[in-house]
Amino acid sequence: MVTGGAGFIGSHIIEKLLSKGNEVMCLDNFDDYYDPQIKRKNIEPFLENESFQLIEGDVRDKVLLKNIFEGVDYVFHEAAQAGIRISVKDPMKPHEVNTTGTLNLLEAALDSDIKKIINASSSSVYGKVEYLPFDENHPNQPVSPYGVSKLLAEHYCRVFEELYGLKSVSLRYFTVYGPRMRPDLAISIFMKAALKNETITIFGDGEKTRDFTCIDDIVRANLICMKKGSGVYNIGSGHSVAINELVSKIIEISESESEIVYTDSVIGDAEHTLSSYEKAWKEIGWKPEISIDKGLERYAEWILSSQL
Ligand SMILES: NC(=O)c1ccc[n+]([C@@H]2O[C@H](COP(=O)([O-])OP(=O)(O)OC[C@H]3O[C@@H](n4cnc5c(N)ncnc54)[C@H](O)[C@@H]3O)[C@@H](O)[C@H]2O)c1
Repeated sequence: MVTGGAGFIGSHIIEKLLSKGNEVMCLDNFDDYYDPQIKRKNIEPFLENESFQLIEGDVRDKVLLKNIFEGVDYVFHEAAQAGIRISVKDPMKPHEVNTTGTLNLLEAALDSDIKKIINASSSSVYGKVEYLPFDENHPNQPVSPYGVSKLLAEHYCRVFEELYGLKSVSLRYFTVYGPRMRPDLAISIFMKAALKNETITIFGDGEKTRDFTCIDDIVRANLICMKKGSGVYNIGSGHSVAINELVSKIIEISESESEIVYTDSVIGDAEHTLSSYEKAWKEIGWKPEISIDKGLERYAEWILSSQL
């Protein structure tokens, strides 16, 4: 089962699982945080596949979860109220979906034969930087309600394994990009503007740095974790790029004439993120394979081919 399977990352996990001959159930409530039609389009190619089943429903609905968990071996838990900025405006929703929703899923899973839950976590659980790169022992001081909600969800996964033996792993994704990426994420906004020669707006001075991770590397880590790993792992590129540098790369790749303007910084945004992937490499044999330059080129090609 892939919760949030109609979203950006979930739909890629489904695509890979189906291509390997698995039977896949997608649970998604087509939340309107961004246009639900984009999500319907994400899963459209799977609807004809006999091994694919779509359940429209909510992770907060425990009765539903109990009913559909029969026969499920693995859960890739991607459903969430994503987005840092919206969590600053409305902290309750990410708490209800990300924390309570995950607790709900774990409780329902106790009555099933589920072998493992692969939980989507986030680099946002680190927040305030004490040193870089972040390793998994770096203190957790999230700077947004979203980060808090994802950290709590991780703890619930850990405690359910320790108390009740329900196996899980939490993958701390570092800003993910690639085809079908969420329209609210910076790379998506910058690339679409650049391709149309429209003005690119940067929040703050552009010197915040981010570890950007290509979707293919994220999907590979998820599939590895069906058989390997427990606890938490950073899943990031291990390379950071300043927003100014990112925009320069995007402008170059898209041969754009976009003008750049700067506006006020946004509260809740971390100053810097950079992952150490040493633990993932040692314990589950995962390391990133796609560089930002290659990943951005592929993303630009995808946008042009899908005429977005
Ligand atoms: N994209 C990133 O850069 C990034 C980084 C770190 C962590 N994550 C995490 O990865 C996961 C997937 O993120 P994404 O970028 O694909 O986001 P997304 O918004 O594209 O996908 C999430 C999906 O969950 C669904 N959903 C929301 N609330 C639900 C609910 N109550 N019940 C059922 N389904 C619900 C949405 O409709 C959506 O299809 C999330 O857990 C997110 O927190 C993403």
